[in-house]
Amino acid sequence: MSDLEAIYSKLPENLHDLPQPSSDKELEEMNYRVRHWMSSIPGSIKVGSKEHKQMVAQMFRETFNPYRPTFMDWPKLSTDEINRLKSLPIWDIAVHTEGKARLRMAAYVKELLDPEMADAIARNAWEENRHKEVLADLVKFYDIPLASEPPYEAPKDAEWAYMVTGFSECWDSFFAFGLFAIAEKSGFFSKELVETFEPVMQEECRHILLFANWLAWHRANLSWLQRVRFELKVLAVHGFLIYERLGLIKGVDVNGKEYYEDNNFTINGVSELSSQKTTLKEFLQLCLDENTRRFAGYDRRLLRPKTAPILTKLIIKLLPKKLANKQLT
Ligand SMILES: [Fe+2]
Ligand SMILES: [Fe+2]
Repeated sequence: MSDLEAIYSKLPENLHDLPQPSSDKELEEMNYRVRHWMSSIPGSIKVGSKEHKQMVAQMFRETFNPYRPTFMDWPKLSTDEINRLKSLPIWDIAVHTEGKARLRMAAYVKELLDPEMADAIARNAWEENRHKEVLADLVKFYDIPLASEPPYEAPKDAEWAYMVTGFSECWDSFFAFGLFAIAEKSGFFSKELVETFEPVMQEECRHILLFANWLAWHRANLSWLQRVRFELKVLAVHGFLIYERLGLIKGVDVNGKEYYEDNNFTINGVSELSSQKTTLKEFLQLCLDENTRRFAGYDRRLLRPKTAPILTKLIIKLLPKKLANKQLT
């Protein structure tokens, strides 16, 4: 086992010792605990301070959901539902994304000098690995074909790679929250399937909450020269992500075959998940509402990811009427 694999495949606690809810009441309490968290530190908190960092690390530890992927109860689906699942063009990229995320986070953990922040991001890497296991399990259960996986290579610049994953997750999760709500309402997939997948969605909310606070904490602890360099790097990461989203990046799988991946399902997947009419403006508003709802239970003093919601609000205001009312389904 490589040292990075050791980070994302081992939790500080033994997972099997984690208390599993043994009744519906306990399950309900656990679902509440992973979505609601208040720090016991009183008063206002200075961003970048020791208290801020402790609060972030504590939030991440205490909102942990101890579900075990192999215990997930995949519901029996109709042939139609299984075919619909199979036709979603997301499975390859979802598995690859989780595989890359766990490795990039583990690589950054190795560089981090701060033990509390390293602990939080190591847990995040572990959760990404669990997402990969959940997907592998789902794909196997419903017999969804997968392309062979690309080789996962440790990044040369771990901070860069962590930021690429973090900012990507901020955008993808924002749209995925809206898409998930659409899938929930449309009945395209059974309630049981949506419910089984729900913990993964809320986990992504915690991940980007951690990322936004890591970013602010990290920024606040840099000298002005380091800060200038860092902001240039942040700009470059955004440039890279735009380049990636325009579909300009191709990958190579383990057999050396080139492939292109659709990195934009979270933006243009509405028609795949519902037959009900949804306009562009309604979808964007739904993403905003879901984003607010998913973050609502966490301590207000923790920073929230801002870019996607702010830009979306602006787009909603500035969109010409014809485009705003464009049907996505
Ligand atoms: Fe994930
Ligand atoms: Fe994540």
